[in-house]
Amino acid sequence: MQWILTGLLALLPSFAWAQTNASAATSVTAAASSSVYYPLPSTLSTYYTIPVSPVAFTPIPSPSDPPSIPGIFPSAVPSNPPPVSQDPQVVPDFGPAWAIALEKAAAKVANFTLEEKVNVTTGVYPNSRCVGNIAPVYPIEGRGWPGLCLMDSPLGIRYADFVTAFPTGINTAATWNRAMMRLRGLYIGQEAVGKGVNVQLGPMMNMGKNAQGGRNWEGFGADPFLAGESAYETILGMQQAGVQGCAKHYINNEQEYDRMQESNTVDDRTEHEIYAHPFMRSVMAGVASVMCSYNLINGTYACENDKTLNQILKMEFGFQGYVMSDWTATHSTMSATAGLDMTQPGDIGFGTNSSYFGGNLTAFVENGTISLDRLNDMATRIIAGWYLLGQDSPSYPPTNFNAFNITDPATNQHVDVMDDHYTIVREIGAASTILLKNLGNTLPLKGIRSLTMIGSDAGPDLRGPNGYADRGGDDGVLAMGWGSGTDNFPWLISPLEAIQARARLDHTLVSWFLEDFDYAGVAAEVTGKQLAIVFVNSDSGEGYITVDGNEGDRKNLTAWHGGDELILTVAANNNNTIVVTHSVGPLIIEPWIDHPNITAVLWAGVPGQEVGNSLVDILYGAWSPSGRLPYTIARNASDYPSQLVLGGTPEDILSINYTQGLFIDYRWFDAMNITPRYEFGFGMSYTTFEYSNLNIAAVPNADTYDTELIANWEAGLPNPLGIGSTTAIWLHTPIYIVSFDVTNTGSYYSGEIPQLYVHFPASANEPPSVLKGFTNINLNPGETQTATITLNRYDLSIWDVVAQGWVKPNGTITFTVGASSRDGRLYGTIPS
Ligand code: BGC
Repeated sequence: MQWILTGLLALLPSFAWAQTNASAATSVTAAASSSVYYPLPSTLSTYYTIPVSPVAFTPIPSPSDPPSIPGIFPSAVPSNPPPVSQDPQVVPDFGPAWAIALEKAAAKVANFTLEEKVNVTTGVYPNSRCVGNIAPVYPIEGRGWPGLCLMDSPLGIRYADFVTAFPTGINTAATWNRAMMRLRGLYIGQEAVGKGVNVQLGPMMNMGKNAQGGRNWEGFGADPFLAGESAYETILGMQQAGVQGCAKHYINNEQEYDRMQESNTVDDRTEHEIYAHPFMRSVMAGVASVMCSYNLINGTYACENDKTLNQILKMEFGFQGYVMSDWTATHSTMSATAGLDMTQPGDIGFGTNSSYFGGNLTAFVENGTISLDRLNDMATRIIAGWYLLGQDSPSYPPTNFNAFNITDPATNQHVDVMDDHYTIVREIGAASTILLKNLGNTLPLKGIRSLTMIGSDAGPDLRGPNGYADRGGDDGVLAMGWGSGTDNFPWLISPLEAIQARARLDHTLVSWFLEDFDYAGVAAEVTGKQLAIVFVNSDSGEGYITVDGNEGDRKNLTAWHGGDELILTVAANNNNTIVVTHSVGPLIIEPWIDHPNITAVLWAGVPGQEVGNSLVDILYGAWSPSGRLPYTIARNASDYPSQLVLGGTPEDILSINYTQGLFIDYRWFDAMNITPRYEFGFGMSYTTFEYSNLNIAAVPNADTYDTELIANWEAGLPNPLGIGSTTAIWLHTPIYIVSFDVTNTGSYYSGEIPQLYVHFPASANEPPSVLKGFTNINLNPGETQTATITLNRYDLSIWDVVAQGWVKPNGTITFTVGASSRDGRLYGTIPS
């Protein structure tokens, strides 16, 4: 009876909280468990068969405007995206490719029975090989379709062997290098295809609103523009290889605590400008699928949220692919009418053998509650993704591993898909390492006769690289966080191993001491050594695993294993102390950062399987540091604009109010005049750069189509909301080219990351500085090159909540080009 009532309540938005209360209670207990998946709620096995009022369905047509325009808006297919550019000026038009895929899919779906269509939308679990599975439609009377294998994670193929453990999302963003983002995406995609995966469940692009957020390391940092570019390039790369990308977790999945029963109160402007932006860029990259998240948004679950799914994603962004639920994030059959196309893993709770889709969806369609048109649309969108990526090709590999039993000889062929991908892992590891301090040019190292390495993070994990399930443990070097966002390391090159191998070339004497808490031993070890490198880390992950009291989210922002004390002990006994951090996110480093004996600090993040090699490349100068912070390092944890929301009872829906609005991360520090320790975008180099000759020029022929819309925009007026109105070409065509010269004034060949921040007029109520462009440029000593960053109308717009459109604010817009969010070098004005 309770479930009949709950089903009815699900139809009434104002009662959504009542609905969630009932089911959420079980999830909370479950989340505290350390098993891989949540235990099964015992009460969730009742099928909904109640007739409810029919819901009309008007299919959202495909965006039709405008036609492809050679040069700026070329027609593209995923297998042949526009070439990577450090300042992308073309906007690929995947519209024609989608149109063909949708047409083929519709033709295929037309031959399916009702049950077969429903089966396309409903995951099958367990007894399947992948973390998500759509069963085949068997080839009876020419109707066949092989089904889908869906696999984690954003950094490689989870639960498989002979795969690469790529750098995390956060490190990828820290490179600020689009070519690396693209190549990593391509290689992840190639490995997925080689294993016979159809849908790779990444990239992840939640915003890191809370510095402690457990899964921030899977994503791309705390600025929507940087995250958006990282997501865009990653997806172009993945889909070029032939695997379907999955942009996740849509949306406002910003903390692990109570993720299944927290309601995020987010205003419409903040949602559009901050949290939805990376998903918009994913749609522009032609992403095949989007995963809706566990949480609620403004009182309604993400997977039955008409506003975020139908209105923003499918309508405003013109998304033509399919929305899948996060695993057990579906809460009703009627979610289908709110925009959910596929439920995963299929069951209501893991292994409950019942589904909100499956038989319930069939019944709802049969009794007219959900229209057949909508079911056709769901199945068509799903199968269109398969066609879009060319997975109908007979040469597309069948699944050749078994995620749930990776040693089973019958189902694992152990296909080696790693190729030489370790090279890009090593390179991104170096390119994402951020040099925070370098007194007297301590780095790069030269003429070191003796060094010692201190701390467990310097060495191998005691149980081996994959000793903890889903990497849920931390007793050696940290190269990724924990949870579903992981994969198996094929090997893990620790600093201990890599530094020794390099030291051999110089005949440097090497020793180490990995006991984190034996301070007397540490003091004795570092005394008299020419150099002491002390390693500390900080870990986090997904909430179903708790490590050292951290229930997914970090319980504080200090280094693990007594890291602060360890660093201070080393620094007290050795006047050439280098600190290396492997941290999933920011740490409070005030206890030691100004210590005069700490001569250098390297912020290395969580860089994947080549962690030691990447570090050696930086330490010895094979790579001059070009990584830049993808978040702010504060002086106090309380300086951040947002904190985890904790507490509540298992029966509560936790209320999370996004009071900081647009002012996340550096935007808050700037607005509130809070001095950070290291600001967003900061990072030093082994050389120095000078900026000069700023120029801004209008792009010719940027206004030859949609002239009426452009004129409206110029006049500060909103344009009509419509299908694809947010991804429309007139909004994204480059209209200004900002150019400037960068000179390498030092003595090292190095890469620099010039960043462009826009300053809107006060009337716009925007943060003081907003990142809207970056590029990357490599220079020999003494060399000067001209760099460009383009701006489009979208970059210069704000979301007008009343008018529901992107508008140009009234007043003068200025901008800064510089080396970080606070290191402005050149100042300009957008021509009026
Ligand atoms: C995670 C997703 C993941 C899925 C499948 C969920 O718990 O939130 O990111 O893709 O599990 O493993």
